[in-house]
Amino acid sequence: MDLSFYAGKKVFITGHTGFKGSWLCKVLTLHGAKVMGYALKPNSTPNLFEIADIESTIIHIIGDIRDLEYLKKAINEFEPEIVLHLAAQPLVRESYLDPVSTYETNIMGTVNICEAIRGCKSVKSFVNVTTDKVYENKEWEWGYRENDRLNGFDPYSNSKSCSELVTSSYINSFYSQNKNLGVSTCRAGNVIGGGDFAKDRIIPDCIRAAHSKKDIIVRHPLSIRPYQHVLEPVIAYLYIAMMMYQDKVYSGSYNIGPDDNDCIKTGELTTLFCEKWGEGLKWINKGEENAVHEAKYLKLDISKVKQTFGLKPRWRVSEAVEKTIEWSKAYYSGKNIDVLMKQQILLFLED
Ligand SMILES: NC(=O)c1ccc[n+]([C@@H]2O[C@H](COP(=O)([O-])OP(=O)(O)OC[C@H]3O[C@@H](n4cnc5c(N)ncnc54)[C@H](O)[C@@H]3O)[C@@H](O)[C@H]2O)c1
Repeated sequence: MDLSFYAGKKVFITGHTGFKGSWLCKVLTLHGAKVMGYALKPNSTPNLFEIADIESTIIHIIGDIRDLEYLKKAINEFEPEIVLHLAAQPLVRESYLDPVSTYETNIMGTVNICEAIRGCKSVKSFVNVTTDKVYENKEWEWGYRENDRLNGFDPYSNSKSCSELVTSSYINSFYSQNKNLGVSTCRAGNVIGGGDFAKDRIIPDCIRAAHSKKDIIVRHPLSIRPYQHVLEPVIAYLYIAMMMYQDKVYSGSYNIGPDDNDCIKTGELTTLFCEKWGEGLKWINKGEENAVHEAKYLKLDISKVKQTFGLKPRWRVSEAVEKTIEWSKAYYSGKNIDVLMKQQILLFLED
């Protein structure tokens, strides 16, 4: 895959201090893009943004996505050609604890980025990053398609369904009159990869347990999810943004996920992790009392992105787990993470 298009391009990313945002910045700066990031400070210690030293390679703005005036000022001063919107409260369980703030960030954040783009004539391509959870989950064994009904169950998923609708309204009401602006929403499955330190996500839980030599606790081992390496959606966002920049006809909504045989149960993913980590690591099934609702089946149909762009998954889930373990072991043994991330990115693009 050739991303040399990005050399010298001005790219504005919201949520650049997060897990996906940090990988995105690394890929973009490796290809010579000029990046401005807008987000809150990293919210965990440690965090990938600092470990990968993203700050020294981009223009780094600490700002709240709910602050429209500050967001507009940043975007208008930078005059980006491409905008990727990732800033969000991205955790289902957190959204049960604080639904109001999840809705504020995820819905008004989308309204604000759409509004800021409306007033910024330099933007030619905009990708809104939502999630596989935007669909009304019917516990189907087959994958959701882009034209299935949007209506996420919990506040996080539902706020992302709303983010899709906000984007659609801005396209219909304002952007359709702009011949030069392409807009897409991307609905990616669960990502894994080096540098995710989030609470309540299975692979970060595995790594924390493995590092402290404890058993891994799995709450929903039978849930099926479209697990994929973080570089899969990151590269897909960049590819779609590039294609829309060249021709806005590529605007649309796209699912990004693994092939059907890599949509696996969380228990299977954890077993894979234990085998590849070694050191006798084990997991235990521990359902919780008063557990919040989580869907059992969630698969994506990725025919559209394959058909439209020829994009297909590059790393099988087992390879994604290997790369995550490689990153984590390198991190805990003090190796140079910048070098490792660049190696993984180049390998991914070659495969
Ligand atoms: N990680 C996954 O498995 C996954 C799957 C599908 C979709 N997504 C989506 O991808 C995006 C990035 O997810 P992530 O896993 O990197 O999450 P993350 O928590 O690591 O990063 C979230 C980013 O959003 C920023 N942010 C949060 N609230 C903000 C606010 N009020 N103002 C400004 N910035 C704010 C944070 O500072 C951070 O930079 C999110 O939109 C998420 O919904 C993630």
